[in-house]
Amino acid sequence: MRDTASSPLPFIDLQAQRSRISDQIDAAIRRVLDHGAFIMGPEVADVESQLAERTGAAHCLTCASGTDALILPLMAADIGPGDAVLVPSFTFTSSPEVVALRGATPVFVDVDPHTFNMDADSLKAGLSAAEQAGLSAKAIMTVDLFGQPVDFDPIRDIADQNGLWILDDAAQAFGATYKGSPLGTLGRVTGTSFYPSKPLSCYGDGGAVLTDDTDLYERMKCVRVHGNGGGSADAKCLGLTARFDSIQAAVLLEKLKIFDDECAERNDVAQRYSDGLSDVVQTPQLIDDATSVWAQYTLVSDRRDTIVETLAAEGIPTALFYPRPLHAQGPYRSYPVAGNGLPVTDRLAEQVVSLPMHPYLEPDAQARIIAAVRAALSS
Ligand SMILES: Cc1ncc(COP(=O)(O)O)c(C=O)c1O
Repeated sequence: MRDTASSPLPFIDLQAQRSRISDQIDAAIRRVLDHGAFIMGPEVADVESQLAERTGAAHCLTCASGTDALILPLMAADIGPGDAVLVPSFTFTSSPEVVALRGATPVFVDVDPHTFNMDADSLKAGLSAAEQAGLSAKAIMTVDLFGQPVDFDPIRDIADQNGLWILDDAAQAFGATYKGSPLGTLGRVTGTSFYPSKPLSCYGDGGAVLTDDTDLYERMKCVRVHGNGGGSADAKCLGLTARFDSIQAAVLLEKLKIFDDECAERNDVAQRYSDGLSDVVQTPQLIDDATSVWAQYTLVSDRRDTIVETLAAEGIPTALFYPRPLHAQGPYRSYPVAGNGLPVTDRLAEQVVSLPMHPYLEPDAQARIIAAVRAALSS
């Protein structure tokens, strides 16, 4: 459907993607209905090998959600009470949630004001906060927010100096690269999500863990199915029902065929936004030698409310990721924060606004969005 001056726009257009590959997806789902192996069927093994091959990771373990993809490694590595995991506050709830669910302590760290990703100086301050709280820092959870990789090198230096490992939360960023390497091999373990709004998504919940660490992989495999890996009567450890199902894997396999093309389209959309807006508002900045999959295109403005209201009046949806820092939310208020607070996170929560972003956003619809943002800022 062509955009007209007043038709409401979707924030993410999953239907446009569906019409492109509906025959293939319907056939793939039908094959699962016919063979009947609904959980961990052949499509699951197939998708795991494709995801490992794409990223260069030695192992891929699919699971039931992106949140499972973060808690599986923490369980497998036996992170628990007395341990600290350094995590940004400017992220989705799951990142610190899984740490707290393990009985370990999330220590909140600030982010860079331009990339929205973990700030290395704040990470150092977070390590001091962990020490002062009498905690044993074990891991750093980097988050590749909005589709862009964190700047791994300085963070890896700090990790190495302090004997910490990196759990990369790439829930929003599967397909992005850092210095030529796809996410999936940059931390000891990487978790991602296939929630429907993610750049690579299925039609329900799903996730995957990628790692080169064979021992950790074997333990995660065990945890994924009740501590027995699904293949034994004996539980070796406590576990979860974190299996992936075959229909979702079948959907992913079809979407993987168009994923590179969709990522290229997302980059074109992002470029058009930046070309049209960077002279009037803070637009996202990519770090050198990295690529993003643009899960979100996020502006920073002290006139955010005007942008939201003006666009809404034009039938253009916006979203606020994230309007309330996690360290200020009920379940997380008592956990340590780096330094004297997280000023960048606090400010971003008041100023960020995300614009419609998906691979099927046509230039004429996008021109309408850009014009509306410019009108809002000139009012
Ligand atoms: C940064 C981040 N981490 C983790 C998750 C959790 O993924 P899921 O919703 O698949 O559990 C999300 C999902 O929105 C996310 O954005």
